[in-house]
Amino acid sequence: MKLIDGKEVSAALKRKIAEEVEQMVAAGYRRPKLVAVLVGNDGASQVYVGHKERACGEVGFDSEVIRMSADTTEEELNAVIDRLNADDSVDGFIVQLPLPSHLSEQSVIERVSPSKDVDGFHPETTGRMISGLDAYLPATPAGILELIKYYGIETAGKHCVVIGRSNIVGRPIANLLSMKGYPGDCTVTLCHSRTKNLKEVVKSGDIVIAALGIAEFVTADMIKEGATVIDVGITRVEAPERKSGFRLLGDVKFDEVAPHCSYITPVPGGVGPMTIVCLMQNTLKAARKHLGITK
Ligand code: GUN
Repeated sequence: MKLIDGKEVSAALKRKIAEEVEQMVAAGYRRPKLVAVLVGNDGASQVYVGHKERACGEVGFDSEVIRMSADTTEEELNAVIDRLNADDSVDGFIVQLPLPSHLSEQSVIERVSPSKDVDGFHPETTGRMISGLDAYLPATPAGILELIKYYGIETAGKHCVVIGRSNIVGRPIANLLSMKGYPGDCTVTLCHSRTKNLKEVVKSGDIVIAALGIAEFVTADMIKEGATVIDVGITRVEAPERKSGFRLLGDVKFDEVAPHCSYITPVPGGVGPMTIVCLMQNTLKAARKHLGITK
């Protein structure tokens, strides 16, 4: 069994991005710039946005966080999005989700200009991705592809079973792994809450991607000997003995599943660290486009 080390892979990718940024700057271009819009006081969102801001600093990007109060109106948020869409110094921006319940996430997603959609959430971006065109890939699926590439995990002709059909993980990764080429050419099954014989289906997977959001759902009896298991879940459970007061559980019962795998991601330290670096990759890609850098 080999542990997939998302911290190692994300650090390597960050170094590569930082090198490219320094080359751009040395050639006289400005630094890429990412802006995050944070509405309200959601604790996890504040932490995530802080991590994104720190990662920008590490790779040499300019960054800005726009903090807005929990009672921000749709008009006020729209005005900020419109301003960022029109600001040539901003390569990409994200509106951190979830939003306070009086705001529509879908209308926000659709208001972001596709040319700055580094989250990869706009329907135009999704359409391009599904058509196999150049697109900003959403961060979690992109991170999974990077892990597969880094470890040289074979995908052609493999049966990939994805559990969970969310717009931001399950459906895009199922689609991407069905594409021609590497990492792709998989035969993909997308499982969800209405799937019959789920255990048997998962057990037929050479690659299992657990993205359903139920802690320790995938157990050893569901896994084929030698499978690759990618765990996207992060559920916080109380742990009074820890300084933080909580610990993170994945969607896979790691201790019993790991001995049966050829590769497995831990939680934390697997897919998680990859998502931010993929957001950085999208921002670099956006900057190169906006600055007309083609090589
Ligand atoms: N909330 C949790 N993950 C994400 C993400 O990748 N992008 C945005 N905008 N919000 C999130």
